[in-house]
Amino acid sequence: MASETLTIIDNRTGKKYEVPIRNGAIKATDLFQIKVAEDDGLVSYDPGFMNTASCQSKITYIDGDKGILRYRGYPIEQLAEKSNYLETAYLILHGELPTQSQLADWTHHITYHSIIHENIKELIDGFHYDAHPMGILVSTVAALSTFYPGAKKIFDPQSRRDQTYRLISKMPTLAGFAYRHSLGLPYSYPDNDLSYTGNFLNMLFKMTELKYKPNPVLERALDVLFILHADHEQNCSTNAMRGVGSSQVDPYSAVAAAAAALYGPLHGGANEAVLRMLMAIGSKAKVPEFIKKVKGGEGRLMGFGHRVYKNYDPRATIIKQIADQVFEVKGRNPLLDIALELERIALEDGYFIQRKLYPNVDFYSGLIYQSMGLPMDMFPVLFAIPRTSGWIAQWEEMLTDADQKLARPKQIYLGAETRDYVPMEKRK
Ligand code: CMC
Repeated sequence: MASETLTIIDNRTGKKYEVPIRNGAIKATDLFQIKVAEDDGLVSYDPGFMNTASCQSKITYIDGDKGILRYRGYPIEQLAEKSNYLETAYLILHGELPTQSQLADWTHHITYHSIIHENIKELIDGFHYDAHPMGILVSTVAALSTFYPGAKKIFDPQSRRDQTYRLISKMPTLAGFAYRHSLGLPYSYPDNDLSYTGNFLNMLFKMTELKYKPNPVLERALDVLFILHADHEQNCSTNAMRGVGSSQVDPYSAVAAAAAALYGPLHGGANEAVLRMLMAIGSKAKVPEFIKKVKGGEGRLMGFGHRVYKNYDPRATIIKQIADQVFEVKGRNPLLDIALELERIALEDGYFIQRKLYPNVDFYSGLIYQSMGLPMDMFPVLFAIPRTSGWIAQWEEMLTDADQKLARPKQIYLGAETRDYVPMEKRK
């Protein structure tokens, strides 16, 4: 009978080892018994975690080859069609869809924690007029930790619940204020009569009207985009959240670290990079020339390719549909033609086919945000707001998992052997 073990023969010593396989994985620490000398146990070398699971999780399932994404077992397509962001956030955090009263209670708490301390507003005032809003978001969410010192009680479920309400509720306010600061506009305060995304639009776009009325199509489009961005298992920013959180720091500091990871152009900054790329290409006619350059190693086709998806990103399919709805209200984004041409050519080109490079979530999302009137700098911020629920769920799962420890990878040291300090006058 087949046994759930792996037999390893170390050809350096001829010794044979048997290590257990559980859930399709061996424990990397089981390799450490494989030694030539007393202190040189075998380690696995895996930059970028290409084939290393850092945790066991019950939150999000992805099958990258088939293009499947599920939160807590529910297909993303069903959630995008039938749910709303706050319900999905509840699902991600609690593991089950809420009952009517649970949803009402959850929505109430998220709605009533949206105001930020006026001192945070002053902190935002101190940023230069053209400060990148993601830099403001990262800094102000970190600053929130100083306003809620009770957040340090990370093993107290009530404290975790309070910080969860605050974080999900205040991220849109910080984002809205950061945006208004860049325009020199007065801050627009939260309106508790509006939905989560309706209120966010209010904090972005309210002008002199007494009551802001969000366009229902744009409100729903943003809500669906938030559902699509809520979690994505062990991506770079979630790994940062878990890694930083493993030091048992408060969740505001860990979210700041996660948001900083999201800022980079290979992660949440990619939709901004997509738009810059589309504008640089300039016209449909120049697409073949651009593709040629990418194939020649001059830059990347931004919004294409993914570490996990080796198929069409299921989120990109849904986003393409939302784009049509937004363009109906706001008019067609002229960059869409360049994007469609890029996609058409890339999907037929051997270079992209061979490497399984398909459009990812960021390929079309930037076009939608731009049509809604948002500048490119705001795009990663629009990713960070909904991803906060995923970060917190992953953080909480990490904290309550007895297997988890302080994240501290090993290295393979290839540097100089020990040597004596050289005084300045003797250095060459
Ligand atoms: N354009 C051109 N070539 C590419 C691209 C691209 N967008 N992505 C990967 N490749 C090539 C790469 O050059 C390499 O080719 P070769 O084998 O000849 O050296 C091969 O495909 C494998 O690339 P890799 O960098 O080893 O793959 P990875 O899994 O480390 O990279 C990625 C994943 C997302 C960083 C990468 O595909 C990329 O840079 N894409 C563009 C940026 C982007 O759109 N990022 C958003 C990711 S989705 C949002 C999120 O979840 O954060």
